[in-house]
Amino acid sequence: MKFVPEDIEDYAIAHSDTLPELYERLREETYRDVDMARMQVGPMEGRLLKMLVRLCGAKRAIEIGTFTGYSALSIAEGLPDDGTLICCDINPETTAIAQRYWDEAPWGHKIRLVLGPAIDTIVAEGGPFDFAFIDADKAGYRGYHDALIERMPPGGVIVSDNVLWSGTVLNPEEDSAVALAEYNQYVKADPRVEQVMLPIRDGITIARKLG
Ligand SMILES: C[S@@+](CC[C@H](N)C(=O)[O-])C[C@H]1O[C@@H](n2cnc3c(N)ncnc32)[C@H](O)[C@@H]1O
Repeated sequence: MKFVPEDIEDYAIAHSDTLPELYERLREETYRDVDMARMQVGPMEGRLLKMLVRLCGAKRAIEIGTFTGYSALSIAEGLPDDGTLICCDINPETTAIAQRYWDEAPWGHKIRLVLGPAIDTIVAEGGPFDFAFIDADKAGYRGYHDALIERMPPGGVIVSDNVLWSGTVLNPEEDSAVALAEYNQYVKADPRVEQVMLPIRDGITIARKLG
């Protein structure tokens, strides 16, 4: 299900910041050579991530689920030159593609990849994290949220992707839909954060840690 009609999404992208050209090359390579290419966040969500990082003044960020590196490039672009983004993934093949584009980007030096289960990396890295993007295994979202919130200062931001799961969270049946519907209720009831859910792309929640 598309929540925003394609021509409207294209118009919104056309009237947002122009993307550096390597994003389009990364998008083409991913769609040409990699299974499940539609997992990639794409231009609109990418620009949103960059803007959110800038708006919250984040210096230390973490990404849960990197794939071929599009969202990581977007987050890192929004960080200051001495900022850091830790990228968590378990797939050496897709993240090898990511690393090639990060090496090319003038802001790629801010990104550090850690291969292994994301929950172990969150614990090992320890924080504090000013900004986090959750976009990995859906059953893990609640555990990631809890592990991240504990390691954030007040004002820290967690962005979670796919929270509408093509609309199936309204009547969840398969495992990911059930996990995401439970996650959405959990975040809504979490007194540690204020949050907004946006029905763009596959649904995005922005949660901000309260002081
Ligand atoms: C939806 S994709 C991420 C897309 C990426 N954010 C982008 O914009 O291109 C999900 C990724 O999560 C990774 N993943 C799945 N389970 C994981 C886990 N337990 N720990 C770390 N990464 C995991 C997968 O290997 C996959 O690359």
